[in-house]
Amino acid sequence: MATAQMSVSQEDLSQVQQGNERIPEPGILVIFGASGDLTKRKLLPALFHLEQQGLLPQKFAILGVARRPLVNEFAEDMRSGILEFGGIEASAPKLDDFISRINYFPLRFDHPGDYIGLKAELERIAQEKGIGGRRLFYLATAPEHFAPIIENLGSQGMAQPEQGKVAVVIEKPFGHDLESARELNRQVNAVFNEDQVFRIDHYLGKETVQNILVFRFANGIFEPIWNRNYIDHVQITVAETLGVEGRGPFYEKAGALRDVMQNHVMELLSLVALEPPSSFEAESVRREKLKVWRAIPSIPILNVVRGQYGPGMVDGKQVVSYRDEERVSPESGTETYAAVKLCVENWRWAGVPFYLRSGKRMQKRVTEIDIQFKQPPLLIFDRLAKSQACQAIKPNLLTLRIQPDEGIALRFGAKVPTTMEMDVCPVNMDFDYAAAFGKSSANGYERLLLDAMLGDQTLFAHRDGVETTWALYTPILEAWAAKKPEKFPNYAAGSWGPECGDHLIASGGHAWRNDLGRKG
Ligand code: BG6
Repeated sequence: MATAQMSVSQEDLSQVQQGNERIPEPGILVIFGASGDLTKRKLLPALFHLEQQGLLPQKFAILGVARRPLVNEFAEDMRSGILEFGGIEASAPKLDDFISRINYFPLRFDHPGDYIGLKAELERIAQEKGIGGRRLFYLATAPEHFAPIIENLGSQGMAQPEQGKVAVVIEKPFGHDLESARELNRQVNAVFNEDQVFRIDHYLGKETVQNILVFRFANGIFEPIWNRNYIDHVQITVAETLGVEGRGPFYEKAGALRDVMQNHVMELLSLVALEPPSSFEAESVRREKLKVWRAIPSIPILNVVRGQYGPGMVDGKQVVSYRDEERVSPESGTETYAAVKLCVENWRWAGVPFYLRSGKRMQKRVTEIDIQFKQPPLLIFDRLAKSQACQAIKPNLLTLRIQPDEGIALRFGAKVPTTMEMDVCPVNMDFDYAAAFGKSSANGYERLLLDAMLGDQTLFAHRDGVETTWALYTPILEAWAAKKPEKFPNYAAGSWGPECGDHLIASGGHAWRNDLGRKG
């Protein structure tokens, strides 16, 4: 398929970049669970990238909190994380200064007495650096610690202090079903007001995910056709080649539906399907997303399928089955793949199927949204298309490539030159982020950390949204828990998932697009 590229003018770009500074007020970022992988691999590299761009306030400190007595090694361990995972040179300017802002405090999450020490430590750091009362508490612990930490912050008067704004960032998973999410919301809102709460879904920090709204609402030509009159169906794929990467005990309790479908995939769906918000402010955007999820009728159990990978070849290497992964039950019934067919029952989308799938150990790492348009009402060239390559005229397809080949492609039919017939061949107009803007080193966490420090909740999940998506999937999870699948494993690692996934989409007269990623 032929491909035409698109580019950006440097003059336009530099105009946009001028005056783009959003610097938070001085404050302390307190990371609970700081000895875990997330802090070292994602949070600290992201914070240092912000520092490099001059987006952190001068008076700013980081306090890592975890159970281990790490006081002396912590900052140096974070330095090695920044170098390894942030792609930073050891000699990078500002790095030593940044490392000197990092502190550590050992604490047992469920010991109220330890929080008295934490409070004193925060006051000491604030005084030493002249920081004032602003605090951002980041909960990067295992989910069972969220409630005790929140309760203890509340009882020590750290959640609603008299001076300085305080906010809390809560990592996923936010609950494991509707009831647990409700309970956690109750616990959180007993201590923090909703406008202090930032529930993270790192997909919302990805540039390409934010670009869905820009693509739809900063351009005039797509919105008029963005509806049931023109769109045949939508496919959303979140495929990973990775397995469970040593997270067996976590994944055994989670599975694909909880781990990725209920949150990342549903966020993508809401951005594709929402009505134009009246502004890009937290309340407007979150209200429109909620309307989408609420317009999804309960999902029949037959419209959801599950799979688990067996052994196979991934990226040229032999890998073991899920059941043979470290700390996974040899009889595990946990799904590593899930596919869903659902509809959004409103005037824009009635009758348009949305097919969603997510799996581990799939053939390719790719997250993509495919908007498949309807065929023209009359195919006048069909009769004439004789060449092998052009047997069928393919309908227009708009592909939003979320990762890894970030970009957007539009497929349309073009006449094949030089043949004397009206042969039609599909071609692609392709916008490639890296070619247009240069390769970005940003992971979603940069944007999200900055927004949380600035108090902007637009890209964070709201209490009602989390409960609504859990409400959709909880009956499925309950039905699955009641009946262990008989045929697990049912797909080979390195494939595109189980046959039942293909049957699900075939039942709607469609097929998964498996030639995902950038063409040409
Ligand atoms: C996380 C899941 O939320 O998202 C992981 O817990 C998954 O299991 C990851 O691998 C995928 O994120 P990304 O950004 O690599 O697509």
